[in-house]
Amino acid sequence: MSRLGVNIDHVATLRQARRAKYPDPLAAALVAERAGADQITVHLRGDRRHIQDHDLFRLQASVQTFLNVEAACTDDMWKVLEQVRPRRVTLVEERPGEVTTEGGLDVARHGAEVQEFATRLSKLGIRVALFVDPMPEQIAISRKLVGVDMVELNTAAYAEADVGSGGAEDELSRLARACEQARGLGLQVAAGHGLTLHNLGALVSAAPGIEEYNIGHALVGDALFFGFDESVRRYKAACG
Ligand code: PXP
Repeated sequence: MSRLGVNIDHVATLRQARRAKYPDPLAAALVAERAGADQITVHLRGDRRHIQDHDLFRLQASVQTFLNVEAACTDDMWKVLEQVRPRRVTLVEERPGEVTTEGGLDVARHGAEVQEFATRLSKLGIRVALFVDPMPEQIAISRKLVGVDMVELNTAAYAEADVGSGGAEDELSRLARACEQARGLGLQVAAGHGLTLHNLGALVSAAPGIEEYNIGHALVGDALFFGFDESVRRYKAACG
């Protein structure tokens, strides 16, 4: 069975909508762990639109599985990460004004910058993953970066295609090929972005080599109807 990383960013989105004290992402993380989450994932964005620095410190102190922090390669992020020291950092690209992460990190273009950041993280004992589009060039370059042992494949294009359509089938094949390429090169493979209870099953079947799924928006949305623990259980069961 693949691991489920529960992304709790949007618990914080709801809190930040009122600048209130609730709902608390830490409370959600603890419920998620009891319901079977294998790790807790958060994205500390440069604009701090949801997760705040203090959330990271509290999560790192209390999460019993482990914390995976998605972050861009910036000095601002470095200052927080070197203090929090999560077990893993997933490096992502952030574009000004984007509603959500719009694309994978372009390692072909930013290789030197990513290498420098990855080296600093690995020196602190932090594992490094790269969030990349499922493209052969991106995966080949990821393998060459020292300190990187995992890629997270961006599933946004698959998630945006209609379930069962030719477009979705093409994206599934692309993800399956990228997964095999990465595993063949010795990288661990995660996937995420836009995954739902409707589109997850076909991906699990098409790319059984994906070891981990990071899922947030749909899981938190479904929690409104099923309850948070039941939502986590349903996604965990769907992870194959
Ligand atoms: N993985 C990465 C690298 C992401 O940036 C995000 C969104 O923050 C996710 C997974 C989760 O995506 P979603 O919230 O659409 O499930």
